[in-house]
Amino acid sequence: MASFSLLSLTVLYFAVGVASRTIQQSAGCGKAIPNVIELGKSKNLTIDSASGESPRKYRINVPDSYDPKVPVPLIYSFHGRNKDMKYQDELSQFSNRSFGFKGIAVYPEGVPYTKGSHPKQWQGDPDAPDPINDVTFTLELLDHLLDRYCIDPSRVYASGKSNGGGFTGLLACDPSASSRIAAFAAVSGAFYLNQETQQPLPCALPPNRKAVPVMELHGAKDEQIKYEGGPNEDRDNATTSNIPAWVNAWAERDGFVPSKNGTGSLCKGARDVKTWKWDETVVHHLYRNMGHHWPSQYGNNDTKLTTCAEADATKLILDWFGKWSL
Ligand SMILES: *[C@@H]1O[C@H](CO)[C@@H](O)[C@H](O)[C@H]1NC(C)=O
Ligand SMILES: *[C@@H]1O[C@H](CO)[C@@H](O)[C@H](O)[C@H]1NC(C)=O
Ligand SMILES: *[C@@H]1O[C@H](CO)[C@@H](O)[C@H](O)[C@H]1NC(C)=O
Ligand SMILES: *[C@@H]1O[C@H](CO)[C@@H](O)[C@H](O)[C@H]1NC(C)=O
Ligand SMILES: *[C@@H]1O[C@H](CO)[C@@H](O)[C@H](O)[C@H]1NC(C)=O
Repeated sequence: MASFSLLSLTVLYFAVGVASRTIQQSAGCGKAIPNVIELGKSKNLTIDSASGESPRKYRINVPDSYDPKVPVPLIYSFHGRNKDMKYQDELSQFSNRSFGFKGIAVYPEGVPYTKGSHPKQWQGDPDAPDPINDVTFTLELLDHLLDRYCIDPSRVYASGKSNGGGFTGLLACDPSASSRIAAFAAVSGAFYLNQETQQPLPCALPPNRKAVPVMELHGAKDEQIKYEGGPNEDRDNATTSNIPAWVNAWAERDGFVPSKNGTGSLCKGARDVKTWKWDETVVHHLYRNMGHHWPSQYGNNDTKLTTCAEADATKLILDWFGKWSL
């Protein structure tokens, strides 16, 4: 009986694999679990880096279910300005296995604009230290993880909050990153404009993709990174993009007709979430009752305000990432 169910599982696995895509293996497949790792527990680690600062910090959570012979997805989750990798681990909940994610979650940490206790941040923020290249750091960390863990390189995803969401947008716009990362989700994204020209930063699709999947979640009551964009008094009046303009630019870049307006809603009443979708490729959710938060069904360290189950940011992002592979 046991061997019968194993056989049918194998057949199903191959049927699904052949129908949709080939599951790929990273160089880490078959290697022993690094002895610094305790499965199911988040761990702070560092790598040597050519990003302009070395070493660089990251926090990683490898699930209890990890088997070094079975490739799993990898999710990056980037913290907001002034926060850190541990805060982002607790906020975005990708290590919380009750949300059903069975892959590896990694929380990189930004560099303070001067040494010491100053806010940590990502490239894109006007105060981010100039010489630091966080795209380089992200990709060297990807190489490092692919070499040590059994990961499906076609299922690598990036997400982030605020400045970390804005940085997720920079990665989506960088062809070297978006040729290796399958999909990008920004929560309360701070998409800074070029402060001299007030135009969006350069953005291009990689040669190997017709479209790059992008999701943006934003609170209508966000006082820090305003939905309508404009100058930010807490950031020397540096301007961020109008969020609909950012979303529409992605719809157009991905080959859709922009400015197709609201296509649905989630939740009800005061917690209403308005939704825009261009197929599933470009998705935007506007939370009517939310400020500068990671929307959660349970409340979190950002806010005790809750959203309904179907609009929980962690769930929405995990479901949506699950639709994409390279
Ligand atoms: C891990 O890093 C966070 C900062 O992101 C820090 O607050 C925490 O103390 C570190 N944990 C350990 C065990 O060093
Ligand atoms: C986040 O909240 C949890 C409790 O839910 C608490 O244990 C933790 O210390 C908080 N973390 C931060 C960084 O505030
Ligand atoms: C994990 O998520 C569940 C809800 O699915 C929540 O009740 C629990 O507090 C979370 N655990 C941690 C450590 O955040
Ligand atoms: C930002 O703009 C406001 C309103 O125009 C102005 O009062 C303030 O001085 C500006 N701050 C900086 C740092 O330029
Ligand atoms: C939807 O239409 C309204 C009203 O014209 C506009 O303000 C908003 O920016 C549009 N949203 C998107 C995502 O196109």
